Amino acid sequence: MNRPSIFRGVQDVQPVTDATAGGRPEDLSPDGGIALRDVCKEYVLADEQRVLALGGTTLDIAKGEFFSVVGPSGCGKSTLLMMLAGLRTPTSGTISIDGTIVDRPYTDAGIVFQRDALMEWRTVLANVTVQAEVRGTDRKAASRRAVELLRLVGLEDFVDAYPDELSGGMRQRVSIARAFVHDPSVLLMDEPFAAIDALTRETLADDLQRIWLASQKTVFFITHNIQEAVYLSDRVAIMSPRPGRLVEIVDIDLPRPRVPEVMETEEFFRLTQRVHRWFRSRERAFAEWEADQEGSR
Ligand SMILES: Nc1ncnc2c1ncn2[C@@H]1O[C@H](COP(=O)(O)OP(=O)(O)OP(=O)(O)O)[C@@H](O)[C@H]1O
Ligand SMILES: [Mg+2]
Repeated sequence: MNRPSIFRGVQDVQPVTDATAGGRPEDLSPDGGIALRDVCKEYVLADEQRVLALGGTTLDIAKGEFFSVVGPSGCGKSTLLMMLAGLRTPTSGTISIDGTIVDRPYTDAGIVFQRDALMEWRTVLANVTVQAEVRGTDRKAASRRAVELLRLVGLEDFVDAYPDELSGGMRQRVSIARAFVHDPSVLLMDEPFAAIDALTRETLADDLQRIWLASQKTVFFITHNIQEAVYLSDRVAIMSPRPGRLVEIVDIDLPRPRVPEVMETEEFFRLTQRVHRWFRSRERAFAEWEADQEGSR
């Protein structure tokens, strides 16, 4: 097309289209991953007004992949996560995990919310094992696993402490351990480090990477922090302003395990810039993408 584009010269931009749409539900995510087919979510407010939170979204996330989503506030990221968890229902389209359509709360997921939601009256250990308790898992085994996870996030000395004796970063570590304790196949994390200072955040990212490498869960991770997304992920998806749609997915081919020094490399800089340019140019980049989509219809 002839319209000048701020992305001219960038060869490997791959707008996300519905290339994989149209699969029958039983064909979806047979390998244990997550599959979305043309998923939309419209909220109806009390005054009958309708808000289209998420536009048609088609996506495959492989089993064991660390997949991040970045996007402007209000673009539907949390809505998408809640639908993956089966806590909200898509208005149209299909979501499946491991070949099963998600049409009710998906209990094989571990969820970490932006606010830690710890139970103040339970010890750190009891906060972590609660997930296993509600699922009726063997208590001793759950306790052993909880202690091991708490060790992985550096909290082995705080097993018997109460949440109000912990810092914000330590509380969020407990949340991460809790999300893993029932050995879920999928981790859904909604800005888990948003309330944490920058330095602690980097340590937490390393904690998360360590547990993820040891467990190889599929992770769906929402963040506003581009560096964090690139550092942790196999792929980073960028969402447009509301109604949110995936506009680009960037492959992050940095070697694992990632170490903080990788952030000083040229490749890391290139990847973060690639994500960042959508936000640097603000509405312009998204408007151009929108026009391209219109033009190709
Ligand atoms: N329960 C709800 N009822 C009505 N509208 C809602 C509801 N939840 C979200 N919305 C609307 O849907 C849109 C997307 O919200 P969502 O929370 O998914 O955005 P987000 O991308 O997670 O934003 P942020 O980055 O600020 O967390 C917003 O316009 C919001 O007002
Ligand atoms: Mg949100």
